[in-house]
Amino acid sequence: MKIYIETLGCQMNRLDSELLVGLVTAAGHEIVSHRRGADAVLYNTCSVRRHAEDKVYSRLGVDAKRKAVRPLLVGVLGCMAQREGKDLARRYPAVDLLCGPGQLHELPALLEKARTGRRAVALDPDRKTPPDARDLEAMESLDLSRDPARTPSRSGAFVRVMRGCDRFCTYCIVPFVRGPEHSRPPEHIEREVKKLLDAGRSEITLLGQTVNRYRHETGGKTTRFADLLARLSLLPGLRRLRFVTSHPVDFGRDLLEAMRDLPNVCPYIHAPAQSGSDAVLKRMNRGYTRGQYDDLLASAREIVPDATLVGDFITGFPGETDADHAASVDLIGQAGYKNAFIFKYSPRPGTPAEKRFEDDVPEALKRRRNMELLAAQKTAGRAHHQQYVGRVLEVLITGKSAREQKKDRRKESPDPQTGLVQLQGRSRGDHIVLMEGPDSLIDTYAQARITAASDLSLFGEIGRE
Ligand code: SAH
Ligand code: SF4
Ligand code: F3S
Repeated sequence: MKIYIETLGCQMNRLDSELLVGLVTAAGHEIVSHRRGADAVLYNTCSVRRHAEDKVYSRLGVDAKRKAVRPLLVGVLGCMAQREGKDLARRYPAVDLLCGPGQLHELPALLEKARTGRRAVALDPDRKTPPDARDLEAMESLDLSRDPARTPSRSGAFVRVMRGCDRFCTYCIVPFVRGPEHSRPPEHIEREVKKLLDAGRSEITLLGQTVNRYRHETGGKTTRFADLLARLSLLPGLRRLRFVTSHPVDFGRDLLEAMRDLPNVCPYIHAPAQSGSDAVLKRMNRGYTRGQYDDLLASAREIVPDATLVGDFITGFPGETDADHAASVDLIGQAGYKNAFIFKYSPRPGTPAEKRFEDDVPEALKRRRNMELLAAQKTAGRAHHQQYVGRVLEVLITGKSAREQKKDRRKESPDPQTGLVQLQGRSRGDHIVLMEGPDSLIDTYAQARITAASDLSLFGEIGRE
């Protein structure tokens, strides 16, 4: 079959989709880059906010019309499939296949079943704690069977170190859809990283919902997250090692010291605050106070002074007062984040916040607070980026800039005088760096002298490596 996969949601979903491409091609299917002409469309979905789900519902509506005129297999994979289960298929009869994020290894068999006209469903019936050994082995098979040549980038790759989440922040659907927290065996992770390095990848990003809670015990030996970093950092060819997303509670000094002492661990900390107010943090069940979060920022500055900080915030959480909101604005002003992801609270069915608290901040106020946080971050982001002007940074050039890609789509040729294009890359601190250069530099490292800054990116000139 010709299969089109559309991926929504976080990096974990992007990784899952990449692994699925390998899995279904090994089963004899072909992946196509456009839904037109596809025999099957698969949505790898996200449930974190209503907006992400609405996108899929509208696609399903269109697919139902397409199905009326030609055969088309429609599948919903991932977090939404798990959250809604068979209700989704009941409401959208166009859906032929449902597969939860923990059952993705079953996809080839599900496709075969759906092809014969039967509805194919694989979901986790409940949140199994702990997952049994057979399930874990099956889930591991997806990561272990990975073909390293299939990474979307030739320079970097994601590697999962944990599944699920046990933190149960009150607003969050992830623990319900991704299941219980489980750390992968370090030897499996190491094998996968080695495979990717052998295939020429040099930047590895470790993924987990609370990646720094990683902890694996076997035969009386415990591997903490800092130990895992130390072990991986020894692998030849690993130039950059990153990890996302961290939980502030688990960001201990050992981890900051590992970041300082291991030369290939990048100085990049994505540790979402969600709010600057103690009262809101408590209702969110985040497990820390504003003071503790401030202490983390202070230790990070002390131990890894060049670390880039990135935050997430939710505005309009139930009961959020003007004073609570002002505390978030204040935190953004204090933290010096490179960037912050700012979201309006979206009640998720079945989560503790949705059950316990009324969504009482009116939409217009949520929007206004959202804009105020964005404006505060814009100022903070500009100040953050400005400090790099005049410095030389190592940049991994990842591709053409958005501006250049737009030109390509309009079929405009590169600057006829120089043949140069606008390239985009990332510093070790994950800053976006834009610079002119030949496209032959894509997927290589360069030294760039920073000449200007905006609130979201740096502009530089390429020197020699
Ligand atoms: N595991 C990561 C990311 C979770 S989802 C972590 O713990 O940081 C990514 C972000 O979405 C969260 O950090 C939070 O800011 C936001 N988010 C999660 N649930 C939300 C909800 N119900 N409404 C609005 N934003 C939400
Ligand atoms: Fe959601 Fe909290 Fe887990 Fe992050 S730590 S995935 S926000 S429950
Ligand atoms: Fe969304 Fe699932 Fe990721 S809910 S944020 S795709 S874990």
